[in-house]
Amino acid sequence: MSRLSEPQDPDFQRLNASIAFDRRLWPQDLAQSRAHARMLAARGIIEQADLEQLLAGLDAVEAELREGRFPFAEDDEDIHMAIERRLTEIAGPVGGRLHTARSRNDQVATDLAMYTRERAAASVEQLGELMGVLLARAEEHLDWAMPGYTHLQRAQPVYLAHHLLAYFWMFDRDRERFAFAERQCGRLPLGSGALAGVNFDTDRRQVAAELGFAAVTENSLDAVSGRDFALDYLSAAATCATHLSRLGAELVLWSSSEFGFCELADSWSSSSSLMPQKKNPDAAELLRAKAPRVVAHLSALHGVIHALPLAYNKDLQEDKEHLFDTSDTLELCIAAARGMLAGARFDREVMRAASADELVAATDVADLLVRLGIPFREAHGIVAGLVRGALEAGKPISELDEQELAAHSELLAAHREQLLQALSPGGPLESKVSEGGTATARVREQLAQAHAALARTPAA
Ligand code: ARG
Repeated sequence: MSRLSEPQDPDFQRLNASIAFDRRLWPQDLAQSRAHARMLAARGIIEQADLEQLLAGLDAVEAELREGRFPFAEDDEDIHMAIERRLTEIAGPVGGRLHTARSRNDQVATDLAMYTRERAAASVEQLGELMGVLLARAEEHLDWAMPGYTHLQRAQPVYLAHHLLAYFWMFDRDRERFAFAERQCGRLPLGSGALAGVNFDTDRRQVAAELGFAAVTENSLDAVSGRDFALDYLSAAATCATHLSRLGAELVLWSSSEFGFCELADSWSSSSSLMPQKKNPDAAELLRAKAPRVVAHLSALHGVIHALPLAYNKDLQEDKEHLFDTSDTLELCIAAARGMLAGARFDREVMRAASADELVAATDVADLLVRLGIPFREAHGIVAGLVRGALEAGKPISELDEQELAAHSELLAAHREQLLQALSPGGPLESKVSEGGTATARVREQLAQAHAALARTPAA
């Protein structure tokens, strides 16, 4: 029954309805309805007999939903109304008592906080698994040399373990962001009513305890209109998806014939419908391309909430698809990253050869001059000239004789042994001894730190 005398326009109904996407909130909705009903009975707001009928009815509704035989009706606007309608059909008029001291406004905020909290926790868990794979692959490739890049130009060699661990730490921080988002879902909105509270002396803490909320919201207006927990989750997801896009982009490059650093498992590749020789890194490409979509969901929810007057407005119904598509997309991407990394085969020789170019040791030669007393800026200039000279002479620096060296630096000519040492393969890697650097001893240290980080799950 409502105060409206005309039936709703079908286009209005289609615009207004959220059932097509919010039906996935049924597990949260049923859990909160049970907790709410138990609280109502405990406070004497409904009879014990009513409670028993409501719980039995909710069980029957749950069975229908779980088994995919819930009879959705044409005019079910959202999952909350659909469940109440069906409950009343099954249990009779007592079904109408469930909504005592509750509004859809605090109901939907509660379902959503529960959903978001679950997805944030799932991402913490999933990222831990991805980090485990990165760590294992890093250990397998501890001292495999490869070029490190800046501007996508070969810059200085690093070990593959070091490069893989760079992602480990990104995902470790993402895990912390999701754990933070999970904590932000920790205050129960239910009990706030439509906006001002309810006309019954309810026990919100009982409901909070049953549903696993650490606390209850302090302000009913804030509770029904606040969605910043969802923004926190989307923000963590956007950063994580962006990290995954960088990993995807590198896997695309590395698996190309031009790089040839790795080959992806067949189970994570596709073939071309036209060119029989091709093996395409589609999953890695999609990691690249999914990120902007997740970032857009964050931006869109900011737009929905922006300048929205208190308290609930129907605009807030537009929070759900951004949230749902984000969790679906992100969780699939994390799983894909994990699968691709677990199955990738790296080519030690190709990576070694690509990093063996003597020119990548230019910084090491400059630092040798620094050790011999030359100011760094001056040494940088000398080595730039030396590199130019070697390129012009068409031979590597290590093949320049003393006289040729002396044309650039008397000091280098006099210390040719040390120069050759700096230029030797492995020289520029093992010289990176600073904390967090790529020298083997430092990477070993990092592996130990990574094991420790993985062992401590960020606290929710
Ligand atoms: N389907 C609505 C939503 O998702 C539920 C809350 C409706 N509340 C209201 N006052 N119309 O936001």
